[in-house]
Amino acid sequence: MLAKTPPMGFNTWNTFGEDINEQVIRETADKMVELGLRDAGYEYLVIDDCWSKRERDPVTGKIVPDETKFPNGMKAVSDYVHSKGLKFGMYSCDGVMTCARYPASFDHEFLDAQTFAEYGVDFLKYDNCYRPRTADQVLLYRRMSNALKACGREILFSACNWGDVEVEKWARSAGIHMYRSTGDINDSFASIRDIALSQVEKINYSGTGCFNDMDMLVVGMYNNGNVSAGGCTDIEYKTHFALWCMFSCPLMLGGDLRKLDGFCLDLVKNKTLIRIDQDEEGRPPFVPNDPGNRNTPTFVKVLSDNQYAVLFTNFKDDRRAGELYFETIGLPVASGYGLHMVDAFTGEDIGVKKEYMRLELEPHDCAMYICTLEK
Ligand code: GLA
Repeated sequence: MLAKTPPMGFNTWNTFGEDINEQVIRETADKMVELGLRDAGYEYLVIDDCWSKRERDPVTGKIVPDETKFPNGMKAVSDYVHSKGLKFGMYSCDGVMTCARYPASFDHEFLDAQTFAEYGVDFLKYDNCYRPRTADQVLLYRRMSNALKACGREILFSACNWGDVEVEKWARSAGIHMYRSTGDINDSFASIRDIALSQVEKINYSGTGCFNDMDMLVVGMYNNGNVSAGGCTDIEYKTHFALWCMFSCPLMLGGDLRKLDGFCLDLVKNKTLIRIDQDEEGRPPFVPNDPGNRNTPTFVKVLSDNQYAVLFTNFKDDRRAGELYFETIGLPVASGYGLHMVDAFTGEDIGVKKEYMRLELEPHDCAMYICTLEK
């Protein structure tokens, strides 16, 4: 079964855009192993847009890799990725061109799926640009879903239509394993916050076999080293990663792994956070307390093994209190039960809290706990 839990891996787009090549993919594959990311669960290495020539092969009709970027072809890249114990992902689009105007799969779905299978692809990201006006995108996603089922390889189908036409309502029935639910993320806290808030109402559709994808992670990008022009702080990356884990999002790293170290590397390898993301029951979070709170929402997620995850956030630019009244998650005082809370970042056991939990949060910071019910 594919996407039993939210898919994890790396995607080239955030850092490299069109500057991709065999060398970058090999180095990234090496890093996924060296840094312990593969062993932490990050298994798919996905090449996004801009991998092909601008025209299909005039004789075979196939999409052809750009030979300056991939001089040995895609099978060689795929073999290298597989030799590292990783899985290989590629990209196409349901229109006549990809978003960056390379050949795309409209009316070539079955041929292209076959080509991807020949490359040894395990994951296909499928975008939604340059669709003919008369073409129905739901049908086009179903077409590619069928083409993948017919190609003789098990390929995870990752739809990227930015939440258009209520994708959360038909993605699962179309055979899609993860569906992009928002426009493109950028390396700023505003983008992270707005994406998370936009999904609170829709997240109930997400679960085992078909997950809501809030886009690739920007953790560790620091605006590609150009700090003066934006990017996030470590605290902001921490809140970003905690939110994605709380929402059971696919965890697709998007920062340059060749530069990922220290705080951000530890963050994306944090076993407790990954366990919360990858919980086998795949339940969505909810906002108890005050569902309309867009400043300091608290998220609660029911996990397997009688555990819970609680995430307090502060989306504002000043210090604020995060709070949770246990009654609002269905834990009345009269029950005698409280929450035994262990800090998900530090492992610190803060004991059993009764009735409510309140704490101060720095701007854009969060606090996350794994909890069990206890008297
Ligand atoms: C769209 C997608 C991005 C990326 C680019 C590539 O914008 O949403 O994630 O794949 O296309 O051109």
